[in-house]
Amino acid sequence: LAALRRLFTTRRAIALAAAIVVIAIGLFLRSTWIEKRLLQANSNLIPGDPVLLAFAIRHGASVFASRCAACHGNDGRGDSQTGTPNLSDLDWLYGEGRPDQIEQIITYGIRAHNSKTWNLAEMPAFGRAVPSKTNPGLHPLSPAEIRDVVELILSVEKRPADWAARQRGEQIFKGRGGCDDCHGFDAKGDTSIGAPNLSDNIWLTGNGSRATIVRTITHGLNGVCPAWFGRIGPTAIREVSLYVYALSHRRTPQKAE
Ligand code: HEC
Ligand code: HEC
Repeated sequence: LAALRRLFTTRRAIALAAAIVVIAIGLFLRSTWIEKRLLQANSNLIPGDPVLLAFAIRHGASVFASRCAACHGNDGRGDSQTGTPNLSDLDWLYGEGRPDQIEQIITYGIRAHNSKTWNLAEMPAFGRAVPSKTNPGLHPLSPAEIRDVVELILSVEKRPADWAARQRGEQIFKGRGGCDDCHGFDAKGDTSIGAPNLSDNIWLTGNGSRATIVRTITHGLNGVCPAWFGRIGPTAIREVSLYVYALSHRRTPQKAE
């Protein structure tokens, strides 16, 4: 009888082990299958597929933590000290926040050294004798002129501004400064060249004080986001893109303010 019972428990142990192996193989196959579908899918349709999206967000979160958080912050809210944008809002420097556009940025970077990177415009340094090497036609502005343009920006943002200075600033914005060429005549920016909206009181650099806006216009800006192709695989790029998409579209649990 004891021998019979022993046989029975070994059988049970074997059956249990077999079941565990089958489940593990099943989970592995399922995840490779989801990964394959993730790569083959049209990225803009993935947010409509809850299984693919959840899978991408879960894996993308760990890519983000190890590759992006150092600059963009653990919560993706960026760092205005270093000019690193908040990725958890719907304010985009480039494009409108579609998954394929986010993926393009992450793949080729911004002002990174490759032929497909975003590098169509830079913010000139108007305090320099030659504000921009790529825009040789631009003239420098005096500190007083820069202060005038800042009053215009404040008034466009509906913040208190000096009216006379604002009027002079508008002449510069649409005239000698050529600001409207990149930021638009209404100062709402241009996401096809990465020129930020100046009317929304969302700041890439600084806190929106007069002093920090003066500093940007005087010294220029040239933000760089690294390119990730060749450094992380295509699946990881897609996963982290969808993670960023989900962050900005509030599709992942948000931390309290
Ligand atoms: C050749 C295109 C170009 C011109 C001309 C230009 N800008 Fe910019 N500006 C940019 C770009 C591009 C950025 C963002 C740079 C970056 O992301 O590193 C920027 C950034 C800024 C910022 C920072 C916004 C923020 O959120 O921190 C301010 C302020 C600004 N520009 C004001 C001006 C003013 C005022 C003028 C005219 C005197 C002007 N710009 C002319 C392209 C331009
Ligand atoms: C070395 C710092 C650094 C790292 C690391 C980095 N970024 Fe960036 N990223 C930046 C900066 C700076 C900008 C703004 C560039 C500019 O001014 O145009 C940016 C811009 C972006 C933008 C464009 C935002 C917009 O408003 O259009 C996206 C998307 C982005 N990064 C995603 C990522 C992801 C995802 C990773 C990780 C895989 C990453 N970045 C890693 C510094 C970094």
